[in-house]
Amino acid sequence: MSNNVLIEAKNLSKEYIRGKKEVVMAVNDVDLQIPKGKLVMVTGPSGSGKSTLLNILSGLDKPSEGKVLYEDENIAEWDEEKLATFRRGNVGFIFQNWELIRIMTALENIESPLYPLKIKSKEIRMRAISLLKQVGLWDKADNYPDELSGGEQQRIGIARALVGKPRIIFADEPTGNLDQDNAASIMRLLKSFTKRDTSVLVVTHNEDLKRYADTTHRMSSGRFV
Ligand SMILES: Nc1ncnc2c1ncn2[C@@H]1O[C@H](COP(=O)(O)OP(=O)(O)O)[C@@H](O)[C@H]1O
Ligand SMILES: [Mg+2]
Repeated sequence: MSNNVLIEAKNLSKEYIRGKKEVVMAVNDVDLQIPKGKLVMVTGPSGSGKSTLLNILSGLDKPSEGKVLYEDENIAEWDEEKLATFRRGNVGFIFQNWELIRIMTALENIESPLYPLKIKSKEIRMRAISLLKQVGLWDKADNYPDELSGGEQQRIGIARALVGKPRIIFADEPTGNLDQDNAASIMRLLKSFTKRDTSVLVVTHNEDLKRYADTTHRMSSGRFV
């Protein structure tokens, strides 16, 4: 594996059994490389296997076949404890419906992933404030999730995914709840993180987002086409 590649999938497949015996190949023999500091995008219609692929690459789910190499180690073989440590230290997740904690303010929500870690509270506050500004919600620092629009909540969720300075960000339909302007600013923000050597994988049905990608793959019925 060349050393500018962070994650590499080889011959990845995932099958589900639907009903009694219908086999669904949600991911079918996919090869993919995610280089360091690049934004890789997978597009395709609903049901084409994008979320399944993302979940396997991030260690949330196991493949039926194939390997997921993270710096030459196959994470598909790791147990849940090792995967949890990997995700905590290296991975940021952005989902379309990523619930914020309702009893915490926007600022506290962004900070919350760092509370269990040995990081000074001053440093935590500084990072959270910087991200609040980057997602354009500095004036909403003390608001609770119920007081924010869907798009604003999504931007707070994105800031929260970034606060741990992950090496890779996995984003599943990150702009699904956003209008065009907000979607563009979120994509620019994700793209800006690649300049600090963070890798980003975005999966989306929205073909318009391709212009933000360094590499794009199109998925159809579990395969890259
Ligand atoms: N847990 C599951 N059990 C059975 N089938 C599943 C499961 N998750 C996904 N699938 C099927 O796998 C295919 C791909 O789903 P998914 O990865 O969610 O696609 P996408 O994210 O592109 O919409 C679909 O046919 C879906 O119905
Ligand atoms: Mg999906």
